[in-house]
Amino acid sequence: VTQSSVLLDHKLTSLVQTLCASFVHGGHELYLVGGAVRDMLLGRSAEELDFATDAKPLQTVALLETIPGASIYRVGEKFGTIGVVLDGVRSEITTYRAHETYEPSSRKPVVRYGSTIHEDLSRRDFTMNAVAVPADALGDTGGWVTSLIDPFAGRSDLALRIVRAVGDPVARFREDPLRMLRAIRFAVTLDLQIESATWSAMRNSAAAIATISSERVAEELAKLLVIEDPRRGLTLFAESGLLAAATPRLAELLTMPDHGPNHPLSLWDHTLNVVRLTSPDLVTRWAAFLHDIGKPSTRTFDEHGRIHFPHHEVVGADEGRRVLQDLRRSNALVDSVVQLVATHMQLHAYSPEWSDGAVRRLVHKLSDDFPRAIDLGLADARGHGNTSWGASKIEALLDRAAGLSHVSEKLESPLDGEALMERYQRPPGPWIKAVKGFLRNQVIDGRLAPDDKATAGQMADEFVDSMGA
Ligand code: CTP
Repeated sequence: VTQSSVLLDHKLTSLVQTLCASFVHGGHELYLVGGAVRDMLLGRSAEELDFATDAKPLQTVALLETIPGASIYRVGEKFGTIGVVLDGVRSEITTYRAHETYEPSSRKPVVRYGSTIHEDLSRRDFTMNAVAVPADALGDTGGWVTSLIDPFAGRSDLALRIVRAVGDPVARFREDPLRMLRAIRFAVTLDLQIESATWSAMRNSAAAIATISSERVAEELAKLLVIEDPRRGLTLFAESGLLAAATPRLAELLTMPDHGPNHPLSLWDHTLNVVRLTSPDLVTRWAAFLHDIGKPSTRTFDEHGRIHFPHHEVVGADEGRRVLQDLRRSNALVDSVVQLVATHMQLHAYSPEWSDGAVRRLVHKLSDDFPRAIDLGLADARGHGNTSWGASKIEALLDRAAGLSHVSEKLESPLDGEALMERYQRPPGPWIKAVKGFLRNQVIDGRLAPDDKATAGQMADEFVDSMGA
């Protein structure tokens, strides 16, 4: 925990000074709070600034209106938050909140304002986030640490490297169950341990995660998935009981310790390895997390007692789709992930005997997701735990695709509907789709160049003859 440096760059320092001048001049308090102060205590530079003030939202707006060049955003006004962009930097200024006393079942807590910074800090999630610095102390090199307001010893918890809830952890998680996922994210990204009473409260309160919106859960989960090494976060997600409570369908991944004689790892450990070995791209990470989700429900044993998972990629694509739809993910994300899960076994089945057309067809089916499919295939092979299950097939497929002509273009029939109607003097109809499909296949199979309209015309003539109409 650094003692001295000011970790605001020049732009942020001048922004703080401008805001400070206007609030102090107006007779109001202004504190930098939360994540920015935590990051400064950790010696990291703060990028986004959150402020707390005793001014009510309307007063904040009036104070900001006196600052030339400030753009004011009022979308959060009914929650007490006013946004401001100054010199291209966005900050949020929130009126002190009172300790919330709403019923756990009520979905829309009524915002009540508090009167002091201490009251505001006491309703925050973790001790390291319940810290504040008066804005007017921030221009002073190093001096800000002596002005730190830290009623719950967040600075000392950071030095001890622990995540600890403010006050009663059960109450903090009841106020907002998403905080349990935040605890995991902070523990992993800042390399901290979760303090034992906080952890017990998480295990006991895990079921409450099901009461908050799927979007919030999914967005927090996405942050866990794209951490460079997400294994610890996902393990805590499972061990806390949050995985089963938030995404019951994903809990299937925890049910299969026996994974066949050639598979030394449990399904869960294999899955974590594969997630870890893919690059931290959200689509690929979701595909890695879900790639074998079809295994538990397809598991069968043959007459020699050997384990098989027939068509687990097909069943898994379907189950994966439901997991992501339950989490209300976008169609684009769902479609890409489902396609990656559905094709992952096809990549492992690659052999040099495949025709050029077969390779082109696979590349075209995956389209922009082809590099992700390769990434997943390599990770799947390397995360197997059995070295004989090499990645050579996936590497060979990648080489083969790279060596093929026209593989990365969008391959279409050289003749479009217009040209075909002209050539055959026929009105539009389903015949056009059939002829175009035929020509496109000739292109994919390498028998016809994508721009060779003359040969395409001859091939189309033969095809139309054979259609007999
Ligand atoms: N906070 C909270 N409970 C939440 C979310 C936020 O008490 N469920 C408080 C914390 O004091 C936090 C501050 O609001 O520091 C700002 O929240 P946010 O911007 O979401 O997180 P940061 O702590 O700034 O961290 P990061 O930006 O890295 O997520």
